[in-house]
Amino acid sequence: MDPSQVKIPPMKDLTVDNITENVIRINSLCDDERMKYVLERLVTHLHDFARETRLSSQEWMTGLKFLTEVGQICTEVRQEYILLSDVLGLSILVDSIDHPKPSGSTEGTVLGPFHTHEAEELPAGGSMSKDPAGEPLLVVCNIRDTNGKPVEGVKIDIWETDSSGHYDVQHADREGPDGRCIMRSDKEGIFWFQAITPVPYPIPHDGPVGRLLKKLGRHPYRPSHMHFMFEKEGFDHLITALYLRNDPFETSDAVFGVKDSLVVDIKRAGPEYAAKYGVSEDHALLTYDFVLVSDVETRELREKNSKAALDKLGRKVKIVNGLPIPELD
Ligand SMILES: [Fe+2]
Repeated sequence: MDPSQVKIPPMKDLTVDNITENVIRINSLCDDERMKYVLERLVTHLHDFARETRLSSQEWMTGLKFLTEVGQICTEVRQEYILLSDVLGLSILVDSIDHPKPSGSTEGTVLGPFHTHEAEELPAGGSMSKDPAGEPLLVVCNIRDTNGKPVEGVKIDIWETDSSGHYDVQHADREGPDGRCIMRSDKEGIFWFQAITPVPYPIPHDGPVGRLLKKLGRHPYRPSHMHFMFEKEGFDHLITALYLRNDPFETSDAVFGVKDSLVVDIKRAGPEYAAKYGVSEDHALLTYDFVLVSDVETRELREKNSKAALDKLGRKVKIVNGLPIPELD
């Protein structure tokens, strides 16, 4: 629509009942169709939220102060907004919508607030942890595509806490990256490294998000896990994690990240792995087969899901830049 054709009525005498349509009308001057749609839905839900809860001025101010504090505690290495999104279930929801997975492929999960860009690349078999107190863990994984073909040259970003349940960036006296590394898959799609057995840990709960959890009567713990992020041209970016079975927080993760297909058992290396990877037979071992989805498969599935979801809401959609907007008659 040509923005110059939008008729804007005088914005006055606005009431509880007509404020929404008028705010939407003035926002519709925007010539970015996707942004216009997102804003239209945002304003609609936000206004309905206020009308439905009969939001008081005091509650409105409490909310604004809370968001201000969330922003104020953010630093280069602390992302309280991601944490807030995580504990509200928004992060996992957005990931599930934007990175749908056909059956048989590896599911995604929350990125969390502790990924950094400073990890060093490790050669195959290298050690990502400098923590002498952690239980040494051999990790051997392979990567295939959805046709079962090994995928070579994938960049894999891996990060985990130390044995006290803290990421390196949470230590004020840290000297550099620890508990994180970058690896590349070999010709057979294999990558392997030494780590430590993950432990459960609380998300940072000394800030506004922690206070919110306390008020809600929720604990701040995440079950033991190790994060993985996969990048290779032609494949959908996969952010995921592996969780240890029977962790005390397996079914009550503070950020809703656990999926059955990502729950693993820590085994013992045994004679075969011991001989092949140069560890003792009782060395802890984690193995996993990752399956990456191509960009094309993901785009098709995303579009199909979008159409089905908006159909259910009674809206016809068209896809612009890979994202749905309603099709206006
Ligand atoms: Fe984590």
